[in-house]
Amino acid sequence: MSERIDLAALPHDFLWGTATAAYQIEGAVAEDGRSPSIWDTFSHTPGKTANGDNGDVACDHYHRWREDIGLMRQLGVNGYRLSVAWPRVIPGGTGPVNPKGLAFYDELVDALLEAGITPSVTLYHWDLPQALQDRGGWPERDTALALAEYASAVAARLGDRVKLWTTLNEPSCSAWIGHLEGTMAPGWTDLTAAVRASYHLLLGHGLAAQAIRAAAPDAQVGIVNNLSTVYAATGRPEDRAAARRHDGHVNRWWLDPVHGRGFPADMREVYGVELPERAGDLETIATPLDWLGLNYYFPAYVADDPDGPAPHVRSVRREGVVRTGMDWEIDASGIETLLLRLTEEYGARRLYVTENGSAFPDVVRPDGSVEDPERQDYLERHLAACASAVRKGAPLAGYFAWSLLDNFEWAYGYDKRFGLVHVDYRTQVRTIKGSGRRYADIVRVHRGQGRRAA
Ligand code: FCB
Repeated sequence: MSERIDLAALPHDFLWGTATAAYQIEGAVAEDGRSPSIWDTFSHTPGKTANGDNGDVACDHYHRWREDIGLMRQLGVNGYRLSVAWPRVIPGGTGPVNPKGLAFYDELVDALLEAGITPSVTLYHWDLPQALQDRGGWPERDTALALAEYASAVAARLGDRVKLWTTLNEPSCSAWIGHLEGTMAPGWTDLTAAVRASYHLLLGHGLAAQAIRAAAPDAQVGIVNNLSTVYAATGRPEDRAAARRHDGHVNRWWLDPVHGRGFPADMREVYGVELPERAGDLETIATPLDWLGLNYYFPAYVADDPDGPAPHVRSVRREGVVRTGMDWEIDASGIETLLLRLTEEYGARRLYVTENGSAFPDVVRPDGSVEDPERQDYLERHLAACASAVRKGAPLAGYFAWSLLDNFEWAYGYDKRFGLVHVDYRTQVRTIKGSGRRYADIVRVHRGQGRRAA
């Protein structure tokens, strides 16, 4: 198998990276002054995660990060997207900064730079300090202010060396899955709370973007959204209207306000929840950004669901299509469509694919190797689609494969493996999979040999 990737289309300084998130890999949840986050609480609540799995140990990256940078060196990548754990840095959510928390990331960033790897730092990848949840969490305005305070502390410490900053990872998951569907922390099912959370996440984003720039004037700030291509399951007008609502729910609600277009009027009506707006907020939310991040995994096929909760849409599972181990449909054309949509509809001047990848049930062979042709195929197809988007004008500056390591896949626990590197959770032994070796080849060809096709 070999999907042809038009590597010559990609800029010479393209960032080839892998991505992770603090709670999914670090472990060491009670060390060096870290306080619990909403994910500690959620994963320790019976019935919330597969097998009752939690991030207590995860990949033990907190102790093994030197080895993990060694793996990145073996892959030959020149970028790494990591997230900082808010509960390590400001354990109380607001107030005193924990020096040991910042010191961990400080040392990590130095070692990355020494290895020739550009760090891209995400401030919030879902691990809200529980202390802030206890004061109401994202439905409360104070949480947005707290994000800015935390952003300021991290940027002041790392901003001399870290140039690429992300305020939020996938705020739609924090708001909709965390507060409406309830299958992620904090596990609420309350439309009003969810809409308020969405508003304060975006307000926090704008405030944090400003705080980062105040502390590190040459910071390049972006936001990371998980977007979907959305299709109506049938040609019925009701389903087409449902597709429009779903697009509003997962795409436009998150893109429009950040681009100065306000919150989509059709969706405000669908939710029927008053936004906690104050004068000046929309301008703050629309603070100009340097780049946009796209996380892409799967397309959505939807139908009208008049009796279901807002936005009255249900997903339709298509038969006869190829799927990953998450049961997510594979459609690489979606990444190209979305990169072009961000370029054409939202005028993006710089884009990164900040996550893209697939889970499959890997098998370790008797000789210790892990071959994963399906993941490799997924990777190749999506990279080919990225290169094609660049040919058509998308200003794509980098690609971060999700994920460097197998890790704690939130409510799915450790069963779902997304890594280019296999982790044996019993021994913490890491093994580069076939897909990781293929990624290394692609990177090598692009960087070393005149950017040919791979
Ligand atoms: C994204 C998350 C990331 C990981 C992948 C599979 O939604 O940002 O942490 O769980 O999905």
